[in-house]
Amino acid sequence: MRLAHRISRVALSPTFRINTLAREMRAKGIDVIDFSVGEPDFPTPASAKEAGKAAIDKNITRYTANEGTLELRQVIAEKLKRDNGLQYPASQILVSTGAKASLYCAVMALFEPEDEVLVPTPYWVSYPDMIRLAGAKVLELEASEANGFKITARGLDGAVGSRTKGLILNYPSNPTGACYDREELAALAKVVIEHDLVVLADEIYEKLLFDQRAFTSIAALGSEIADRTVVVNGMSKAFAMTGWRLGYAAGPKPIIDAMAKVQSHATSHPASISQVAGWAALRSAAGDVARMAAEFERRRNAIIAKIKEIPGLTCVPPAGAFYVFPNVSKLFGRAIGARKLTSGQDVAEALLESARVAVVPGEAFGSPSHIRISFSCAMETIDEGMRRIREAVA
Ligand SMILES: Cc1ncc(COP(=O)(O)O)c(C=O)c1O
Repeated sequence: MRLAHRISRVALSPTFRINTLAREMRAKGIDVIDFSVGEPDFPTPASAKEAGKAAIDKNITRYTANEGTLELRQVIAEKLKRDNGLQYPASQILVSTGAKASLYCAVMALFEPEDEVLVPTPYWVSYPDMIRLAGAKVLELEASEANGFKITARGLDGAVGSRTKGLILNYPSNPTGACYDREELAALAKVVIEHDLVVLADEIYEKLLFDQRAFTSIAALGSEIADRTVVVNGMSKAFAMTGWRLGYAAGPKPIIDAMAKVQSHATSHPASISQVAGWAALRSAAGDVARMAAEFERRRNAIIAKIKEIPGLTCVPPAGAFYVFPNVSKLFGRAIGARKLTSGQDVAEALLESARVAVVPGEAFGSPSHIRISFSCAMETIDEGMRRIREAVA
């Protein structure tokens, strides 16, 4: 059977690959510490769970509107206004099966062959492959470590060519935790407007921001930038609702309508039960979110201190999300166990073999000098995992 050409342009997510290896080792009885996961370890807030259960009992189990229930879109509109100062009517909001599905619909609705899309690197694994699936071209734009893993307005300006149509902006970032402040965003927005680009702003880690930093959505910086931005957010990370598959997008009506068309032929809407649970979470789980964010901050502080104790590892402290992205290039040329280290991939594989710790190689994010360590696990797990890494590296 001959497969479609487009499929040869993409790879299975490398984060899934390390996960599978770790799972196989566990199945053999090997005790593996898993720092590779991209989801909170907390349970879903009780209010959301109760609402989900009640939805089943009330037989809210049928198809909903393709774009999501009006009730949920109204609550999302209130959230965007209250938290982000964004004004969108429900008709400019699309509810999807996760932020990933919103992003996918946006990419399919906006980009086509000949288009170039700027992707700040390190990037979240799925952006380049989504763009390639749309037949468009990925332009990697270095978010340099020296600049805290952030792109600059100058760098952006220099990278735009005649075919460049879009920019993906994700902050706080997976994998680096980097976050832009208002001034930095204003400078980027100016360049975006000058070059008539469209921005996909992935704000899924918005609520997991540390050191009392305030979050600014780039779309809140004026109507000119809002008119060319699709804001994407979701319930997975802040509300510990990964398995419920619920995300959303808000943006200019023509783009949201086009995304809704894609969605109507792909997934329709997210599960009716998840939509009820998401509605409840957005209305009443702010306290749970704040508690989880505070715990992530405590763990971030602990893991940063431990990384500092490991010779050969350096890292930019993350401003948000639940990942650290240490630079491991000082280990290159050395060995862990029998494995000579020349890349992040080698370091990740060596740590799995010798320390029984699963991390994600930086290659997955376009950055082979790094590894990603997720701290969405208990403090004792962080202590033990970091102890194993320190021992292996020593
Ligand atoms: C940056 C980023 N965007 C989007 C997603 C997708 O989230 P969801 O579970 O809502 O599809 C993830 C999940 O890992 C992510 O890290």
